[in-house]
Amino acid sequence: MVQFTETVLRDANQSLIATRMPFRVMEPVLADLDRAGYYSLECWGGATFDSCLRYLDEDPWERLRKIRAACPNTKLQMLLRGQNLLGYRHYPDDIVRAFVRKSVENGIDIIRIFDALNDIRNIEVSLDETKKSGAHASCAICYTISPIHSLEMFVKLAKDMENLGADSICVKDMAGILTPQAGYQLVRALKETVRVPVVIHTHSSTGLGYMTLLKCVEAGADVIDTALSSFSGGTSQPATETMYYALKEFGQEMNIDVLLCKKINDYFKKYRKECFDKGLLNPVVLTTQTDTLLYQIPGGMLSNLVAQLTEQNKLDKFDEVLAETPRVHKDLGYPPLVTPMSQMVGVQAASNVLYGGRYRIVSKEIRSYIRGEYGKPPGEINQKLKKALLGDESPVECRFADTLEPGLEKARAEAGDMALCEEDVLSYALFPAQAEEFFKKREFMKKHTYTYRIAETD
Ligand code: CO
Repeated sequence: MVQFTETVLRDANQSLIATRMPFRVMEPVLADLDRAGYYSLECWGGATFDSCLRYLDEDPWERLRKIRAACPNTKLQMLLRGQNLLGYRHYPDDIVRAFVRKSVENGIDIIRIFDALNDIRNIEVSLDETKKSGAHASCAICYTISPIHSLEMFVKLAKDMENLGADSICVKDMAGILTPQAGYQLVRALKETVRVPVVIHTHSSTGLGYMTLLKCVEAGADVIDTALSSFSGGTSQPATETMYYALKEFGQEMNIDVLLCKKINDYFKKYRKECFDKGLLNPVVLTTQTDTLLYQIPGGMLSNLVAQLTEQNKLDKFDEVLAETPRVHKDLGYPPLVTPMSQMVGVQAASNVLYGGRYRIVSKEIRSYIRGEYGKPPGEINQKLKKALLGDESPVECRFADTLEPGLEKARAEAGDMALCEEDVLSYALFPAQAEEFFKKREFMKKHTYTYRIAETD
């Protein structure tokens, strides 16, 4: 028996339309999604939190509570970047624990936790708090191909995660570079090594996705991530319905109600048209990009790059930036290209091409990374680059969060009256500027438009 995690509300939304799907679009189909037989609905975390505050004027916590209320029967799942939570830097442990606790209190059942560098020290605290809060901790291995990554390395990481208490292991292939055969071998090796369920997360970017999922299921994968067909393909996941029809012929038992899926999909089809018409959905992200197999550019990174270059009127440099990316990747010791590393590597590659010379401009994030503030890089960092940026300073060896002062009280004090509840304090702790802006708008709306209800949280 294989089960499905539906990604339309989170990863498909993030990968195809830059996470701009508002709650009002989701709302009418939540009850149907809840009845469609999914193992879980991935609906929160990743970039949704930031996007709610920054672009959609939505309270992400309120969105979660509303989804929970509309979906009482299906497990709700979120993606969490370990010590980075839903932000782009490491947070102190007290903020990490409070955030995880509140996520579960507000409705999350499964937290998929990963660290961009596969540095297990960076997932320990969120894993521990997830378990203490009574939720399912799914630990994800960021799959990447490089001269230093190997099957043995991934299997060992999975075993370490299981030993730490992971309730399932997810292979997270952000870039869609997991090939059918490599996927088959990896799942076989994982199934021989760990007792907990194995989940496969991939993207269709390179066109391999369907074949890879098929082979992974054949190898014994327990759960696959898919997106309803109108929001599938390209930088998103393989389609739910397509996988259902294919797997059925192999005698797989599945709980998916494919007729109900059609009904939900018809709804999203109309919304997709709206996205095309508004230019929110760029057809480029739906095409098959085999260059990815060469450059290993994940979906989100590819669409960001297109957006960034278009904005600067430099789309003609696209191929050059793509070619520069693997060089930057190598110089940085082959970090898996997942948030925030994918953005950092992408921006650096673009800057190397656009601003006349490699590393003439280096972001403060790259500097922090080289200082060890994101964890231990998988490989060696280019010595010359390290020397140029750090001089004689030596990088941090311990878990970076151990060097951070507790931050929750400070965030609470700073947020002051603007924060109406503990969730607000956490929004502020993660994204101070965006949260403040949002609180002001909310205050304004409360006075002028709506009557606002602050949910009880205890
Ligand atoms: Co993904």
